[in-house]
Amino acid sequence: MIISLIAAMSDNRVIGYQGKLPWHIPADLTRFKEITMGHTVAMGTRTFHSIGHPLPGRRNIVVSRSGARFNGCEVARSLKEAVDLVTGDEELFICGGAGLYREALLISQRIYLTVIHASYPGDVYFPEIPATFAEVHREERPNANPPLTYLVFERVDQEGGGHDPADLRRKGFDALGRKLYFLARSCFEEAYSQQESPEIASHLAYCLAKSGGDIKRALNLAEMALGSEPHNLGFLLNLGRVQVIAGNKERGLTTLRRGIQLGGGEEFHTEIAKWGTRSAPPIPSLPRSHPLNKYLGMLRYKLRRH
Ligand SMILES: NC(=O)c1ccc[n+]([C@@H]2O[C@H](COP(=O)([O-])OP(=O)(O)OC[C@H]3O[C@@H](n4cnc5c(N)ncnc54)[C@H](OP(=O)(O)O)[C@@H]3O)[C@@H](O)[C@H]2O)c1
Repeated sequence: MIISLIAAMSDNRVIGYQGKLPWHIPADLTRFKEITMGHTVAMGTRTFHSIGHPLPGRRNIVVSRSGARFNGCEVARSLKEAVDLVTGDEELFICGGAGLYREALLISQRIYLTVIHASYPGDVYFPEIPATFAEVHREERPNANPPLTYLVFERVDQEGGGHDPADLRRKGFDALGRKLYFLARSCFEEAYSQQESPEIASHLAYCLAKSGGDIKRALNLAEMALGSEPHNLGFLLNLGRVQVIAGNKERGLTTLRRGIQLGGGEEFHTEIAKWGTRSAPPIPSLPRSHPLNKYLGMLRYKLRRH
């Protein structure tokens, strides 16, 4: 599981004022919802009270030493206890406030940070990001009011190494092994700009899909790689995964089954088990991605576990 911080701060690093957000920026709230939906969110007591209710469609954990209860939320007495509570989720989101962010920076792998290009009065600030994190993704929104920058950082740890395709490829695989998809994507992207090999194309495609990049390009790259080596199991696996993420589940499963026919093992079975045997959504008339289906699905999952 990846532990991620998600926050919005102003140019003067403010994140809160008098127990509230100092701004109302619907675009950033939508982005927060899209990124965290269906996952687990953990937050401190004051942050929970500033929101006023559990976030729908997500497993909510309030970190508090007080012994208090929070309607619709689980309670953990420490960040570690919160992390230990979460099993079976791909990503745990630490949603603030300042103390929890500071502590989580020591154990997290990713930071989603919105920078709001304006100055606000504040009494809570976002901590400095340690040098062990590198910016791996940036989206500018200069026409928003106020202008915004969406940043993603991932933990790099071992800095250095060269910038030739072989080094970048190695770094990309290392990041991929740690599920740092943004970091892997930037390594493969740079490697691909220097050397258009099918292997790099295939892995770049998977990372693009996993990090919310251009899905059409991901499909093209994955198909092109497989086209050059139709029996390459790694390329088949990546194409199947990308097709599923792109919303074409049947096609993806067919690709993955073809991989098994060609001798593919464990990874193909795991992927098919993940996507192929899911029960119908709680409200079949709504898409699986609908917030209501995600929320009810999570409830059903929890009830089955207890
Ligand atoms: N801009 C953003 O992205 C963003 C995100 C989040 C929050 N905010 C803003 O930030 C402000 C709230 O943040 P804050 O830093 O003042 O408070 P906070 O972290 O939300 O809450 C502090 C309380 O949470 C509990 N807590 C925090 N860390 C803990 C830990 N490691 N172990 C056990 N308990 C822990 C303690 O509660 P008990 O007393 O119950 O033990 C502590 O008194 C608000 O203004 C909010 O709107 C902004």
